Amino acid sequence: MTKNSDVAILILAAGKGTRLKSSLAKVLHCAGGRPLVEHVVRACVAVRPKKIVVVVGHQAEKVQAVVEPLDVETVLQQPQNGTGHALLVARRVIGNAKYLLVLPGDAPLVRPETLKALIQKHKNGQAAATILTAVLADPSGYGRILRKGGEAVAAIIEESQLTAEQRELNEINSSIYCFTAAKLWPALAEVKPNNRHREIYLTDAIGVLNAKGETVLAEIAADSREMLGCNTRGDLAEVDHAFRERKREELMRDGVTIQLPETVLVDPDVVVGEDTVIEPCVQLLGKTKIGMRCVVKTGCVVYDSVLGDGVVLEPHCVITESRIDAEVIAGPFARMRPESHVKRGAKIGNFVELKKSTVGEGSKVPHLSYVGDTKIGKKSNIGAGTITCNYDGFQKYPTIIGSKVFIGSDSALVAPVKLGDGAYVAAGSTITENVPADALGIARGRQVNKKGWASKKRRELAAWEKTKKHSKTRH
Ligand code: UD1
Ligand code: MG
Repeated sequence: MTKNSDVAILILAAGKGTRLKSSLAKVLHCAGGRPLVEHVVRACVAVRPKKIVVVVGHQAEKVQAVVEPLDVETVLQQPQNGTGHALLVARRVIGNAKYLLVLPGDAPLVRPETLKALIQKHKNGQAAATILTAVLADPSGYGRILRKGGEAVAAIIEESQLTAEQRELNEINSSIYCFTAAKLWPALAEVKPNNRHREIYLTDAIGVLNAKGETVLAEIAADSREMLGCNTRGDLAEVDHAFRERKREELMRDGVTIQLPETVLVDPDVVVGEDTVIEPCVQLLGKTKIGMRCVVKTGCVVYDSVLGDGVVLEPHCVITESRIDAEVIAGPFARMRPESHVKRGAKIGNFVELKKSTVGEGSKVPHLSYVGDTKIGKKSNIGAGTITCNYDGFQKYPTIIGSKVFIGSDSALVAPVKLGDGAYVAAGSTITENVPADALGIARGRQVNKKGWASKKRRELAAWEKTKKHSKTRH
């Protein structure tokens, strides 16, 4: 991968984002599973420039917390007096790279290849500035490119300053530019805050460069969607949509089947193996990794979890921070809370909740159970409705269930408690003491059958109803 060691990159991320009507700074809003500004920084890192500087201002500390782990420098712009002002504030930190690539923090769909092509075009054209543009059917909300004819640009006109004729212009400024630093700084020094907001607009530097006889070029982006800026909630939804589509296409290219893809939401770091099938309305989130030949059925939500090969998630499972090994079948309606580990070939059935528990190879928890702070060995069978009582209102306690254990339905295991290998628990037991290996634990009242009790009861009832009727007619 070629380096661009003569290029410094500046990302403008100090603005508030008034049009979003939010208490959160605009560049911190998420689309495609990441804050907007993080997408932009990642695209820039792939360009391998000399340095990346992010201008922060509104909620500076929060923005810094997102970008600094990505190995960038930040500079504080306070107050935020416009995009041109942001450059002036950052000038010292940017240093003396020959070229300066400028990007807004709110246009996150841009790809590294597009940025590299822009830099190349700028260098080849020996321009003072090269602007990345897009031709849009609806250009409203953006600054417009005023061409001189041919490739050259005369000026960028902000929407608020468009004349009636200029409203027809449909080539927009993406706010992504490559400048030759030595030409930019003197031009920017001449820009005055001649607008309604009294801000120094970077866009006005283009007109100044043109007036000085410098070359300003524009490159129309091949995919205009990459230029989408996020000024409104509607823009955010559109950008999120585009990211999600990109991710799904990437997975499909890698051999994953996705049914009704537009209903499936996958975060950017998720990995899915070949021949896995994802049914409609599934969400794969965070750092989830899914193996090969899995089936993730409709309505499942998987967050920060790892699934081995050949796992089947029946509909509507919610899996969080858990490990599911190969060939496991889970659901429908299974819930795995953090630190659950279901080992190879095990089965977790409907309406089963696991928390911080390990289910050993080939073991089954098929129906209606709560299993918390528990270790289950191999090939055990946990009957319907079994509950581990792991909490006494103060503390959590562990339950240890060995291998080949059989627990009858509707048993309560009061922790801390241990069931040895091969033990049985009689259905309906409330187990409060350990059950040794190969023993039967039975902990419930003995059954007594009372002969004829039911028919006697029915006779009594019939007699009682009769007297009730009589007393009504008398009243
Ligand atoms: C800007 C451009 C417009 C372009 C559009 C593309 C200007 C004057 N206009 O308009 O031509 O079509 O982007 O999306 O540049 N920012 C700062 N400091 C400031 C002001 C803004 O860092 O003082 C940052 C914002 O956080 C944002 C970016 O600069 O990330 C652009 O600002 P924004 O207010 O979104 O400008 P637009 O109105 O979209
Ligand atoms: Mg914007």
